Amino acid sequence: MRKNMSEEEMKSGTGMKINTILAVDDNEMNLQIIANILKKKYAVMLAQSGGTGLKFIEKKKPDLILLDLMMPEMDGKETFRRIRQNPENRDIPIIFLTADDSVLTETECLEIGASDYITKPIMPRILLSRIGKTIELAEYQHHLQDIINEKTRETESLALQAIAAIANAINAKDEETNGHSKRVAEYSRAIAREMGFDENECAHLYETALLHDVGKIGIPDAILKKDGRLTPEEYEIIKTHTTIGGDILSAITTIEHISDGARCHHERYDGTGYPCGLSGENIPLVARIIAVADVYDALTSHRCYKPEMNPKDVRKEIEEGSGTQFDPKVIRAFHEVVSGFLKPSP
Ligand SMILES: [Fe+2]
Repeated sequence: MRKNMSEEEMKSGTGMKINTILAVDDNEMNLQIIANILKKKYAVMLAQSGGTGLKFIEKKKPDLILLDLMMPEMDGKETFRRIRQNPENRDIPIIFLTADDSVLTETECLEIGASDYITKPIMPRILLSRIGKTIELAEYQHHLQDIINEKTRETESLALQAIAAIANAINAKDEETNGHSKRVAEYSRAIAREMGFDENECAHLYETALLHDVGKIGIPDAILKKDGRLTPEEYEIIKTHTTIGGDILSAITTIEHISDGARCHHERYDGTGYPCGLSGENIPLVARIIAVADVYDALTSHRCYKPEMNPKDVRKEIEEGSGTQFDPKVIRAFHEVVSGFLKPSP
């Protein structure tokens, strides 16, 4: 329920919203006729050219536009095109109101997206009725869109809660993996941003990278936390954290590719990685990005079996792996952003 009444609602004194209609017509007499018909029910803005109409829309978005077709300078179709150019105006219903009664023109106007096509001479009751129905339909569509947006937000928030729970499970199993996962997520997001991912894609990649090692939940502690060198058999078991993680995350469908990050982050660009030996573009892009971030963090971190390496040396080593271990496109982006990889405290 909305709390604030708009200016128009207050003006009406009934709490009901008064819709605003913009009428665009080069003939002043036509505009006056339209204003007289509409003024009892609607707030009316009148524009005598397409250009003036566009300026009005910039200042105040109307609830519906009545647009003449034949006008000098900018005709109705061109005005229509320019209104729709602005994504914010794509949902304003536009009705053509014209003396042109050819079927071809009417068809063309409906096909480019007009809500309706009304021919002159103007019949007041027909005009009011068709405007009323068009506005009702637009409001219904807005209402449905609001419901869809709300449900999408709810679903995403549920998925994020599930992800937080899984991330906590990794943390409980292995402190070291937790700090590592957060840093890999941050590095991955920085690389993706440099590669032109939008904010939504970056946020999804962050969650994907956060869970890239979730399969370690399925690895016995005796192997995962072993101090000494792993035997070949133990190494084979460690490698299964990729497929275990991929299988766990395949249940989350609201974030695309989330299981690819876990399953494919140890694949190598030249096809010699695991678990599937995928190569080049066959490796999902999210996994190619996480692979770089993962190795950068592993090499710059202290582990019980190795000291940390100097970030400059790590950067050189990773860049040398371009085209063999790593995707050259990802390495180019990594090169641009690596200086900003200040290690957050674990
Ligand atoms: Fe891993």
